[in-house]
Amino acid sequence: MHVVVFSAKPYDRQFLDGANAAGGAKHRLTYLEARLSAETAILAQGADAVCAFVNDPCDVAALETFSRLGIRILALRSAGFNNVDLVAARRLGITVARVPAYSPESVAEHTVAMMLALNRRIHRAYNRVRDGNFALDGLLGFDMRGRSVGIIGTGRIGLAVARIMQGFGCKVLAHDPFPAEEGMAMGLEYLDVDDLLARSHIVTLHCPLTPATRHLIDDAAVARMRHGTMLINTSRGAIVDTRAAISGLKSGAIGLLGLDVYEEEADLFFEDLSGQVLQDDIFARLLTFPNVLVTAHQAFFTTEALTAIAETTIGNITAFAETGRALHEVSTEKLA
Ligand code: NAI
Repeated sequence: MHVVVFSAKPYDRQFLDGANAAGGAKHRLTYLEARLSAETAILAQGADAVCAFVNDPCDVAALETFSRLGIRILALRSAGFNNVDLVAARRLGITVARVPAYSPESVAEHTVAMMLALNRRIHRAYNRVRDGNFALDGLLGFDMRGRSVGIIGTGRIGLAVARIMQGFGCKVLAHDPFPAEEGMAMGLEYLDVDDLLARSHIVTLHCPLTPATRHLIDDAAVARMRHGTMLINTSRGAIVDTRAAISGLKSGAIGLLGLDVYEEEADLFFEDLSGQVLQDDIFARLLTFPNVLVTAHQAFFTTEALTAIAETTIGNITAFAETGRALHEVSTEKLA
């Protein structure tokens, strides 16, 4: 198949070319730096398949263009698929495939890296020491052992975080509409979300972005948290209402905030904008807090994860070419 890869970075080319070669070089891959959008969808002309990433809006206009171009499969190189209009894809007969599980540990370990960095103020200590400032004031942390960590969403990543936190000697609390058997076997205490927020020293988000989880962390949720809670979001930006998080930081309700995702990240993340004036005032405000650590959607960014993402993406396209069904299709059965 001829596959047009949108939002392609040098590392995408490296890993996708490797996976394609390992699979017998069955596909011709064309790499575009452009993000996929209604305007750029036409660049897929001549292709059989499109490969897109997390911040590529696959809306109805883009999908209609694909349909006109004869594209039958949209292969996401991500686990999340909230950026795709699945109703439109179903109507247009475009199969949407994804990479359901590439390396839950990549995201879980980054989550824990953020917890430790924030707790022990590593981001501040790094700069201080380089500036010849060896004072410790302002760097006081706490022992993780014995603390309660509340995990919202105990799927693959949430459970991987739970295993690590149990290793630290933390008490792990959980909330999930579908509690995992493995989670219960591990001794996680499943609670409703309000109780979890009230009892956790650290709250970490690992549920998908859905209408039910959009702004799950809003003003009311922040008000239910223990004073000084550490909040980590490595899931999807819009699960946290950023304005509520900023209010929580100002009041001290949120003591430490770690974000790998941001609700308006699509215009910022994955690009070098260091020579430009930041236009997003809410994001700019976030960056002024000493107790906020932001990484630009890099939790997945390990060699193991990129290898697995590329292998599964090429596997999805190969299976679709050979059988008409991708290995990991996003189910549209329940959609209207
Ligand atoms: P998963 O599908 O294995 O687990 C998601 C869990 O969330 C499920 O157990 C589900 O029942 C639960 N859930 C659904 N609605 C919920 C709600 N309202 N409240 C609480 N829990 C709810 O997904 P996985 O692989 O663990 O990934 C989780 C999320 O992590 C993805 O949806 C994606 O948005 C994000 N992610 C972020 C990455 C990054 O680089 N920052 C990379 C990969 C995934």
